[in-house]
Amino acid sequence: MSNENERLKILSVVSEVVPFIATGGMGQVAGALSSALAETDSQLDLRTVVPLYEQFRCKYESQMKFLGEVPVKLAWRGIMFKIYELAHQGVIYYFVDNSHYFGRENAYGYYDDGERFALFSKAVFAVLELTGFVPDVIHAHDWQTALVPVYLKTRYADKYGSIRTVFTIHNLEYQGVYARDTLTDVFDLYEEEAGLVLYNNDVNLMKGAIVCADKITTVSPSYAEEIKSGGGYGLDAMLRENSYKLTGIINGIDTKVNNPETDPMISMNYTVDNLELKAINKEKLQALFGLPQSPRSMLICVVSRLVSHKGIDLITYIMDDMLKQDVQFLLLGTGDHEFQLYFEEKAVTNRDKVGVSIAYNPEIASKIYAGADAMLMPSRSEPCGLAQMIACRYGTIPIVRKTGGLGDTIKDCRLGVGNGFVFEEYSGAALMKTINKALDLYTNREDDWKNLMREAMNSDFGWDISAKAYASLYRELK
Ligand code: GLC
Repeated sequence: MSNENERLKILSVVSEVVPFIATGGMGQVAGALSSALAETDSQLDLRTVVPLYEQFRCKYESQMKFLGEVPVKLAWRGIMFKIYELAHQGVIYYFVDNSHYFGRENAYGYYDDGERFALFSKAVFAVLELTGFVPDVIHAHDWQTALVPVYLKTRYADKYGSIRTVFTIHNLEYQGVYARDTLTDVFDLYEEEAGLVLYNNDVNLMKGAIVCADKITTVSPSYAEEIKSGGGYGLDAMLRENSYKLTGIINGIDTKVNNPETDPMISMNYTVDNLELKAINKEKLQALFGLPQSPRSMLICVVSRLVSHKGIDLITYIMDDMLKQDVQFLLLGTGDHEFQLYFEEKAVTNRDKVGVSIAYNPEIASKIYAGADAMLMPSRSEPCGLAQMIACRYGTIPIVRKTGGLGDTIKDCRLGVGNGFVFEEYSGAALMKTINKALDLYTNREDDWKNLMREAMNSDFGWDISAKAYASLYRELK
């Protein structure tokens, strides 16, 4: 592979990446990891391929350089993609553009998502052809790009056999599962290759990557264990078999962006040394949601996708009990229709205690992190979770269930030094008990609560250690 003096060439392949587009944690992490690597390791040549979505075309078009147009073949399809380039924070981004497939209102959620991301995965190789850039390592993320290691082992073994692959699982719940008869017609794989991707007689793209990648990572050490023993959404045995190449590396957060000292979205900037200013953010946040300005009511928030693995059902079980106390509740997020309706209705029937915004909105999210006292994250499973770390940065105390990355990042303050509240049993009762403990501390021991805020704000959630862990993983593959 590359000679000693050359920089190691890394090509990240991902379906969303900040600052261009993020619908959830993966996009945040893919962008922050590349920027952190660029900042800390000058021996890496970092590039990223991502689809060009309508959502950011206008904003960035003028900065993009057109590189050319390339044909991409997928089974019987021959599709033209335009390729653009843009440099950002030490990373070169390649955008693959076909408006029929990617110029839609949302990034995902279409009947032909399998075909769209199979095409995207194929387009990655067209980018290599066009640019002449042959990476040492391709780093793919989640099911949308799981076919990249599969195509590399099959279609491109002769030409690009020297490239090694890392596949990161951000969430095993979404595996990219399709009916068996899509194998050749949609995914362009032959019958003799079926064993690579078939699982329970379906095409399972995540399985394909687990089999074909040289290294598999997931986003926390605990999740790496859980998915081998009961938490693997059916792929446990497969992951045990491949555990020799599986590691858990905890995500960081972008501590420059998520910083109450400089965050331009919040009403009043503050630091661990002038915590009292957080109260102004609380006041403004209450006003924003039309809640009474009561400084001593504990303001509990949820900033989350409203999907089942986030434990939203537990919140619905305890909602009425919780609202009997001196608390206010704010929720920001989108997701399952039934949850959206439930919370919207709660806001209507409890105008003085509940505020709800069914949206994905980074600006309101910042205002909530800055203004709330506590944040609930009672996930059923959580590969890593970012919101609990962001909350800590803003001195908002996380109340989390011990699962995956939540247990790795949040330690219970009742066990000595800690940065939040942690419970284990997946039940409304356990959640309610823990909220009551937090409420007791908040109401009756103001100084202890302040100390807890300081511990939370001083927690180290930067990328330094994890970026180094990824860099050494890449080098191991050299
Ligand atoms: C997914 C996971 C979340 C993780 C994020 C980034 O959204 O559900 O736990 O933090 O990816 O890796």
